[in-house]
Amino acid sequence: MTEPVLDVHLTPEDAAIALRAEARAGLTARSKWVSPKWFYDAVGSELFEEITRLPEYYPTRAEREILVARAAEIASLTDAHSLVELGSGSSEKTRLLLDALRAHGTLREFVPLDVSPSALTEAARAIIAAYPGLRVHGVVGDFTEHLGLLPGAPPRVVAFLGGTIGNLIPEERDKFFASVREVLNAGEWLLLGTDLVKDPDVLVRAYDDAQGVTAEFNRNVLRVINRELDADFDPSDFEHVALWNAEEEWIEMRLRALRPVKAHVAALSLDVDFAEGEELRTEVSAKFRRETVDRELTAAGFALHRWWTDPAGRFALTLARALP
Ligand code: AVJ
Repeated sequence: MTEPVLDVHLTPEDAAIALRAEARAGLTARSKWVSPKWFYDAVGSELFEEITRLPEYYPTRAEREILVARAAEIASLTDAHSLVELGSGSSEKTRLLLDALRAHGTLREFVPLDVSPSALTEAARAIIAAYPGLRVHGVVGDFTEHLGLLPGAPPRVVAFLGGTIGNLIPEERDKFFASVREVLNAGEWLLLGTDLVKDPDVLVRAYDDAQGVTAEFNRNVLRVINRELDADFDPSDFEHVALWNAEEEWIEMRLRALRPVKAHVAALSLDVDFAEGEELRTEVSAKFRRETVDRELTAAGFALHRWWTDPAGRFALTLARALP
């Protein structure tokens, strides 16, 4: 079987150094935070898959509905020769796009980008097996930093699905959109999935489900930190908090200390204290409006070409074109 080509822009050592620096910054800040990147170890990735099947967590299903309805239209609008996928989205959504591009007759190459070499190799092999003749050229990197030399035969569609753009705060989003625009030629495409602003109760329930799967996903971040940074947090010292920040229009997930907590983070030679009730922010998940998406993409040098939502108007898929 053909092996995928992999470009490595980020070694496991680089990733560890970056995560350590971030963890130190976040755990010593006045309002403590850690990056949502920590969520996705093997257990966390499995819990996230479980979240996508929860009745309360609609974004995955809503985005899939849009892709099912629009994949063929995306193929004929873009005539794409390459699909670039940022972050390891669900391979099911990737396949909807690959199938449509193949049926349209333009598909030549698939370029997945992910921080995890093992996840990338596994995903790439599965795609090679399912799409004989398709070139697969993976990139190991962080999508906020390593877009630099994006492979793939033009015209390319860069897909950033799942609403993961919402994990970036507005300044980071501006930088991210600008860096995507920079690696594209004029006329190439960005396909962006965004969750939309809606009734706060619906939003909060999506991040605080009745079965407590999201709470477990959130607390798992402490197990990842324990393992990766040789720390001694007890996840049962913390409760899951999901709240709607109406001003910023984002969901915040936090872990709230149920009692005073003292933890030692050996890899950082750092002692961390939490007062009872003190919170650790673990994620922001921004929700969007069409005007915001349009404004941010326009500022980065894209033109919004199509805006599609699911019939219930919960989630949007935007096709944007790089301007000259
Ligand atoms: C994978 C980042 C899109 O923000 O909805 C799910 C992650 N966090 N439940 C999201 C998540 C809590 C998810 N993203």
